[in-house]
Amino acid sequence: MTSSYFLIPISRSSVIHPQYSNMLLLFIVFFISATVFLHRRRRLPITNWPFLGMTPDIILNRNRMHDYATQILKLTNATFMVKGPWFTNTDMLVTSDPANIHYMLSKNFSNYPKGPEFRSLFDILGDGIFNSDHELWELHRKTTMSVLKHPEFLPLIETTFKTKVENGLLPVLNLVSSRHHQTDLQEIFQRFTFDTTCTLLLDYDPESLSIDLPFVRCEKAFTEAEEALLWRHVLPERVWKMQKRLGLWKEKKLSEASKVFDEFIYKCLDLKGLEFKEDKFGVLTLLIRGFQSEKMSRKFIKDVVLNLMIAGRDTTSTALSWFFYLLARNRRVEKNIRDEIEGQLGGREWESFGLKEFEELVYLHGGICEALRLYPPVALEHKSPATADILPSGHVVHDHTRIILSFYSMGRMEGIWGEDCMEFRPERWVSDGGRVKHEPSYKFPAFHAGPRTCLGKEMGLIQMKMVASAIIYHYHVELVEGHDVCPSDSIILQMKYGLKVRLFPINNNQTC
Ligand code: HEM
Ligand SMILES: *[C@@H]1O[C@H](CO)[C@@H](O)[C@H](O)[C@H]1NC(C)=O
Ligand SMILES: *[C@@H]1O[C@H](CO)[C@@H](O)[C@H](O)[C@H]1NC(C)=O
Repeated sequence: MTSSYFLIPISRSSVIHPQYSNMLLLFIVFFISATVFLHRRRRLPITNWPFLGMTPDIILNRNRMHDYATQILKLTNATFMVKGPWFTNTDMLVTSDPANIHYMLSKNFSNYPKGPEFRSLFDILGDGIFNSDHELWELHRKTTMSVLKHPEFLPLIETTFKTKVENGLLPVLNLVSSRHHQTDLQEIFQRFTFDTTCTLLLDYDPESLSIDLPFVRCEKAFTEAEEALLWRHVLPERVWKMQKRLGLWKEKKLSEASKVFDEFIYKCLDLKGLEFKEDKFGVLTLLIRGFQSEKMSRKFIKDVVLNLMIAGRDTTSTALSWFFYLLARNRRVEKNIRDEIEGQLGGREWESFGLKEFEELVYLHGGICEALRLYPPVALEHKSPATADILPSGHVVHDHTRIILSFYSMGRMEGIWGEDCMEFRPERWVSDGGRVKHEPSYKFPAFHAGPRTCLGKEMGLIQMKMVASAIIYHYHVELVEGHDVCPSDSIILQMKYGLKVRLFPINNNQTC
């Protein structure tokens, strides 16, 4: 609202005679003071400057972007307009109001497609599911869903995850703990989910999680690509496009990452020869069969695979990392979860767990939901309305308004979760009858909401429960003192410097 004041002196400036320039200066000083005064009165920690908009404050707070937005949203009843520099068309409406979220993601879904801007920001995703709207999206959704609902899919993920825990995860952790070394759990999880995603999708296990922790270029490229993609949200389009053309800075890394993905996936596709084995269940075979009626190129299949790899890998590994971070600071919860696992096992070994038994770990489920609430791996979502509209909060949006839905802030709103919203309390998710308590997705949008709800929710939860229960059953996890744990500048809420921990075998731990 304050920016309209500034338009008066500035837009006249071009016709002002030089002798009045002192007066113009005075005007500007006056309006700057007025703005600062107005904002101080509203006690907002952000100032709308002439010309620069709110950019200076955003730059100053760039290393704590999510917490900064949360702080402002708490003071503005969960919705506020960020003013970009003048004439750059970078104004953004930021909201964490469940009514707005529910409206955009479900009630008026059709007016809030991803849109052409999303497509240009995420050009690396090609024609994959994340990047498509309308008919192409419907085709993707239908095909992907049919694979995930296939009767042979559940048994396949059970063996894939379990094999990786037993042959990859536990041997590596065993080595680390027996040598009393530190390890970066986030990196271990990223390798885990990279291997399982490749195994499921491509029927090829790159074995990045093995004793010698080999360097796998493709596995690392995801992190680099996701960082570059966040910057595209912040920089004016012309700037990042120029950087892309000239191959500069993060854009250079993004182009390189994109090449690495292509090479990796094409190589796997060639290896498989895209054969259709009628007798053997294979995710890729089913996907290709599902799309067959459409014009299907090699590039299209590559896009499908890349999108699903991105969907499955970093979301799950990020959620696991934050879960263990919260757990390591909460001995009470750790003990409760271990008791629950041991109760469920009744004297047997972890290896004897089946899918059904993982489902019964209700308290562990609550702990994972708490991690997803406080640190949603997809921390924000980008929307732009197809036509002008009024949001339930009363804010008017135009067809060019950029809207950011802050899922991160939602988990930290007292209005939504109560006064103890900052506490890690798995009990929040357990009903009086001891079952999992359901929360509506517009209140808990970690897996998104409405027609575009995450398709891999069940699979992600199963994977997280298997990994978490295996580690908690075998080890006590301690954070390395002095190691800084904070979110990275990325579209996925990874940890900037990883999660450095030490592991203590449970039995040894009791005796020493
Ligand atoms: C903790 C784990 C996960 C979280 C937090 C998560 C979260 C999300 C979110 C927020 C979206 C919406 C993104 C958007 O529209 O921009 C999404 C979409 C999607 N997710 Fe997940 N996801 C997880 C795991 C998985 C896994 C393991 C898969 C496996 C294939 C998967 C497959 C998908 C797909 C295919 C979509 C696109 C749905 C559509 O656009 O119709 N996700 N997920
Ligand atoms: C959805 O948005 C359109 C465009 O502004 C509007 O005309 C329509 O009434 C909205 N629909 C609902 C269900 O609110
Ligand atoms: C805050 O937002 C909610 C939901 O949009 C609305 O019902 C309420 O009246 C708003 N409160 C104030 C003080 O503006």
